Amino acid sequence: MDDPRGRLTRDGIRIYEPDDFAGMHRAGLLAAAILDDVAALVEPGVATEAIDDFIRGRVETAGARSATIGYRGYRHASCISVNHVVCHGIPGPKVLKDGDILNIDVTVIVDGWYGDTSRMYVAGTLSRKAERLIEVTHDALMLGIEAVRPGNTFGDIGHAIQSYAEAQRMSIVRDFCGHGLGRVFHAPPNVLHYGRPGTGPRLEEGMFFTIEPMVNLGRPETKVLADDWTAVTRDKSLSAQFEHSVGVTADGCEIFTLSPAGRFFPTR
Ligand code: MF3
Ligand code: CO
Ligand code: CO
Repeated sequence: MDDPRGRLTRDGIRIYEPDDFAGMHRAGLLAAAILDDVAALVEPGVATEAIDDFIRGRVETAGARSATIGYRGYRHASCISVNHVVCHGIPGPKVLKDGDILNIDVTVIVDGWYGDTSRMYVAGTLSRKAERLIEVTHDALMLGIEAVRPGNTFGDIGHAIQSYAEAQRMSIVRDFCGHGLGRVFHAPPNVLHYGRPGTGPRLEEGMFFTIEPMVNLGRPETKVLADDWTAVTRDKSLSAQFEHSVGVTADGCEIFTLSPAGRFFPTR
């Protein structure tokens, strides 16, 4: 499955070539453009499976493939995680209610390159506490991305995210993490959204990975439901997540999954 581009570090992290950034940008752009278009569909009364059908159609029309359909038995083109669902929510017939907040996560494959991104959406009226959660989660991701540069470590990224979210009296989910990607969906390293400065592998130019913090209003613990996918907060508190795919450059990083419409953050 993996094709031997670039080289591997001692930690087993692939270092891609400068030319490989273009492929990642194409895949990331498609995933982000689909998430832009999905916004018009999100409203009370809409079934999450209708949103997934739209996403599946957009991937097909673009001549791309969904990375999630057929992945470990998963059958949908997106994960849609509503309210206390932390991640891996399965699209279904249940309709959105006024005030629901949801994460929609799309991964596409374009010419063999993977683009993986997710954002938050709101159905109808946004409560103050949900708005604050969404804001903190978004800002935590962007602070993590600001820590991406050669010489920093993965622990620096995790620390930037964790210290900010916890200072806002919210909690960071430990049970799921970001991941390397490129010509494969999930590769080393595990990108933790918590950690201590200076720990973990050192970042090098040419590393491609996701950062995708999940932040809870309550406690960080999660459990997976009997469907073997849906992860929820144990205390039923609201949870939010944003995800970008990035590539390390000589002096920072490029975000592959920037919104072409500039609407990554839903309410700003
Ligand atoms: N896109 C998710 C991630 O960020 C993975 C979803 S796998 C699925 O890594 F099978 F649940 F779709
Ligand atoms: Co991901
Ligand atoms: Co994702």
